Amino acid sequence: MRYSIRTRLTLLIALAYASVFFFLVAAGALALYLGIENDIDKKLRTERNGMLTLFESEFTGLLSATGYRRSKLTDEFLAKLNDIHGYKNQFVIFSLESETGRRVYSDGGIKNVQLLLPKGFLTKEAAFHNQHLVGKLYRVLIAKPLWGTLVVGIENQAFFEVADQFKEILFFGVPLTLLLVLVGGHFLARHVMRPVVAAAEATEKITLTNLSARLPDYTGKDEFGKLVKTLNQMIARLEQGVKQVQQFTHDAAHELRTPLTTLRGELEMAYQKPSMPDAVRAGLQKSLDRAISMSQIVDNLMLLAHSETGNYPIQMSTFRLHELFHDLVDDVRMLSEDQPIEILLTHCDVVTFSGDKQLIQRLLLNLSDNALKNTEQGSIEFTLRRGNNHIQFTVKDTGRGIAKRDLPNIFDRFYRVRQARARSTGGSGLGLAICKWIVEAHQGSIGLNSQIKRGTTVKIILPIG
Ligand SMILES: Nc1ncnc2c1ncn2[C@@H]1O[C@H](COP(=O)(O)OP(=O)(O)OP(=O)(O)O)[C@@H](O)[C@H]1O
Ligand SMILES: [Mg+2]
Repeated sequence: MRYSIRTRLTLLIALAYASVFFFLVAAGALALYLGIENDIDKKLRTERNGMLTLFESEFTGLLSATGYRRSKLTDEFLAKLNDIHGYKNQFVIFSLESETGRRVYSDGGIKNVQLLLPKGFLTKEAAFHNQHLVGKLYRVLIAKPLWGTLVVGIENQAFFEVADQFKEILFFGVPLTLLLVLVGGHFLARHVMRPVVAAAEATEKITLTNLSARLPDYTGKDEFGKLVKTLNQMIARLEQGVKQVQQFTHDAAHELRTPLTTLRGELEMAYQKPSMPDAVRAGLQKSLDRAISMSQIVDNLMLLAHSETGNYPIQMSTFRLHELFHDLVDDVRMLSEDQPIEILLTHCDVVTFSGDKQLIQRLLLNLSDNALKNTEQGSIEFTLRRGNNHIQFTVKDTGRGIAKRDLPNIFDRFYRVRQARARSTGGSGLGLAICKWIVEAHQGSIGLNSQIKRGTTVKIILPIG
């Protein structure tokens, strides 16, 4: 699946923000955790010092005491420790080493904690350690006085608190900021992409007939500005090239027109000479036909060249379109008299129409010419209908139809389907291109439906006025 640049930009921004957010929160949490741990360590140090002072000032007797005196002293020592330090979330281990042997006492929140510690824990170096005990994390300080080992442990609540807070922030904070960033990013990306969208929309409107249009000025000196400038220069070069081609077509047609007219005149004159033998006259007739067809092509070329440069002087007038249809049907009937084709005007609303009468006539002529040329038998049927603010007319024949592969090109100039090219008679392939231009010049639309060997229907919709 392809995403638009805007979406991709938004997602990238969101990803960048989410990562930064995550790392900031993680760094914050770590700093917080280390701060709290530092506090615990301070407390542990104070506890250790207090306990060592108490032992060394009052209870060193324990090292040599035995029997009843020893257990009495031990009770006293532990009671005093308890008084001074309290044992909430805490434990203490004394390991005494003397000539009477090695003895270990413990007290605090965990009973017989020395048995729960991993083997050899008491022989670890004098330092801070982290240790899991009964499902909780303890911060532990080991001290090594001359008489043995002292271990003080405090539950490291902070670790869990910070972890919980961290989870909470991540759970709510990340989606929330992500949402904000997505919305913000979307608007940001839209803002950034605006000149591109504008340029694309403007480009869409640039066609062969309005190559003088340019992309909207974008004064920024950034990449977009450069792109717009380059595109505008390219369109200018295209415009120049197309103008030259159009001018050439126009000039060539113009140059051909006069000699052709002269030629036609001379042929007609020669043809009318009574002294002309019949065999020569037949040859002259053929040449005359060709000259007429050539001057029609030249006329069509001139018209198309004018239409492309936008120079054709469209002459608007209001006229009765239905009358044109009646006249047209009469003409077509006459032209097809000796053919087994029925010419029908099946529906003809009364329509007063505003447009270029000559062009509309030409449009109808081209369509009926096509229908006549391509229909051997059956019917050619015309309709004219009036809508609220548009008219619609159709020319439908039962002729040879057009193959599917030709349909996409049928309105191109000089395009003729293969069979038509093979026929010696027939036109130049400009008729439908002219029809299309006439319809577009009247802001209308033209559609062509055709099935091979079944017939063709051309439908035209024009706005009234
Ligand atoms: N009603 C139709 N039935 C069958 N084929 C058609 C029909 N109308 C047009 N065509 C085909 O489309 C091609 C293009 O038509 P277009 O009117 O542009 O050119 P043309 O009739 O050959 O020449 P011109 O109109 O310049 O004399 C024609 O060659 C013809 O084969
Ligand atoms: Mg034609």
